[in-house]
Amino acid sequence: METKIIDGKEISLMVKNEVRDKTAAFKEKTGKEVCLAVILVGEDPASQVYVRNKKKACDYVGFKSLSYELPESTTQEELLELIEKLNNDDSVHGILVQMPLPKQIDEKTVIDTISPLKDVDGFHPMNVGALCIGEKGFVSCTPAGVIQLLKRSGVEIAGKECVIIGRSNIVGKPMALLMLRENATVTVAHSKTKDLAEVVRRADIVIAAIGKAKAITADYIKEGAVVIDVGINRNAETGKLCGDVDYENVAPKCSAITPVPGGVGPMTIAMLMNNCLESALRFSGENI
Ligand code: GUN
Repeated sequence: METKIIDGKEISLMVKNEVRDKTAAFKEKTGKEVCLAVILVGEDPASQVYVRNKKKACDYVGFKSLSYELPESTTQEELLELIEKLNNDDSVHGILVQMPLPKQIDEKTVIDTISPLKDVDGFHPMNVGALCIGEKGFVSCTPAGVIQLLKRSGVEIAGKECVIIGRSNIVGKPMALLMLRENATVTVAHSKTKDLAEVVRRADIVIAAIGKAKAITADYIKEGAVVIDVGINRNAETGKLCGDVDYENVAPKCSAITPVPGGVGPMTIAMLMNNCLESALRFSGENI
């Protein structure tokens, strides 16, 4: 069977170009800038890379980005004070606090403090609840990106058996809600699932978000399935990135598959840009 390689770089560029065009139209119409505030606490090297890429994407789509790089020793009170200031600043449309945070700061308190109207990560309980009952709100960027990958690759979702492996608040759970919204029949498997391979073999669409390199091997996959790999693991010996799926052996069985890198990864930032533009449109009452 011919396997389609789903190109996340290309699809993320399409999304970013759409955001860029709408941002230009928004500026033209309102005279205002779309603005994302990015907060990084401490010096985690991976977080520094993510934050740099987020700022680069802001430049690409034409957003203003405000950057706050706070020392590792920042207190929770200081961080909450900055968030409150940004909540009350009408020129700011999105607030992103890069996770993880230093141990003296409680992540849940931080997420709860960000205004749900500016929570472009979609982490606030109000936005998670809205997704759960099918109301408008911000959706977590990685699962939103997976939906775009599927739709823009022409994968039918309605009526399909979808197995999601992983139940995190950021990926697995919102992913399940989004696939349900698209009328898939959804199973969420996890570390306590009995006979995982048998469960995954039922799937027309497999979404792997486990965090374990090459955990999904060819014997888990039904012939002709679509496989989406959300995993980003670094091989300790070679330093190379690899996903949760044993790509080499799984790909020949699939009708379509995402590679790592270059699959789901680039979609996350593209959807963040999309969420921030939507926020600016909502605040200004514009419909572009
Ligand atoms: N850390 C790892 N992924 C993310 C993300 O999507 N958003 C934020 N804020 N922090 C992260």
